[in-house]
Amino acid sequence: TRHLLSASDLDRAAAIDLLDVAEEMSEAMSREVKKLPVLRGRTVVNLFFEDSTRTRISFEAAAKRLSADVINFSAKGSSVSKGESLQDTAQTLAAMGADGVVVRHSGSGAAHRLAHSDWIDAPIVNAGDGTHEHPTQALLDSFTLRRVLHGAPVSGAARGAWSTDLTGATVAVVGDILHSRVARSNVHLLGTLGAKVVLIAPPTLLPWGVETWPAEVYYDFDAALADHTFDAVMMLRVQFERMHQSFFPNTREYTRLWGLTPARYRALPTGTAIMHPGPMNRGFEICAEAADSPRAVVLDQVTNGVAVRMAVLYRLLTGAPGTGGAVGTALT
Ligand code: CP
Repeated sequence: TRHLLSASDLDRAAAIDLLDVAEEMSEAMSREVKKLPVLRGRTVVNLFFEDSTRTRISFEAAAKRLSADVINFSAKGSSVSKGESLQDTAQTLAAMGADGVVVRHSGSGAAHRLAHSDWIDAPIVNAGDGTHEHPTQALLDSFTLRRVLHGAPVSGAARGAWSTDLTGATVAVVGDILHSRVARSNVHLLGTLGAKVVLIAPPTLLPWGVETWPAEVYYDFDAALADHTFDAVMMLRVQFERMHQSFFPNTREYTRLWGLTPARYRALPTGTAIMHPGPMNRGFEICAEAADSPRAVVLDQVTNGVAVRMAVLYRLLTGAPGTGGAVGTALT
């Protein structure tokens, strides 16, 4: 595929390929190879119309580690405040040269709009569009889960020896599903990779039509915890900025019923990993004890995000088919 707009763009083989290439990237970085020369001379434009810490910085780090030049655009402090449109902003950046564009925007469908326009002739990566999708977050979550289940591959192991999917895993996704592009992308990708997904949320924070999604749905967190042994519990941030104030949940009640409280955390099976895409509302959807516990893989998710984004940029910008040895060759 030329773009990465949705996790549903990836079939099983393409998803596993990206996770495997990300393992190679991770291994290269762990060997203190500072930079891979594979995108030398290319320019990656990070086009961020919405705030971000993890995604923006990790795409920048990923592009630089592949030796690309990076142009960072943030809507704040730009001519967007003077009313400049997405089209004019995109065309302006394209005129300065862009071999790949990473876009985050509050409008669901913004990445598709760019990809299907003639404003920019470059691969587009969706870095989060409104409440729609965040495919690289789902990839880094699946990468992290695969390591939770199977461990990291042995250094230097032949590709294919450790390449696998998530068959047999059961994952809880808990909280504000309605506004969560992370949940939407994860439902697609976890399903593609063979994991079972259980969505847990108040009825008011579930989208219309959720019963047609390939997932089991619970309103009651404790009932879901009693019915399943989860390999991971993925807590979602409650996205107040996307809610009208009159729809804000009662915070005390929300934490009591849908929060990962100290009591729920202590009752989890020891093998259950705790995930959160960040940023976290500590003390609200997740208690500090759980977030800071050895079972939390929240910072692993961040670290893995760089390797996964290196894999995505490498695949999209080089168009390299197949997998074997491409990164290894570049290291020599
Ligand atoms: N998980 C995530 O997308 O975080 P940021 O909003 O900080 O990029």
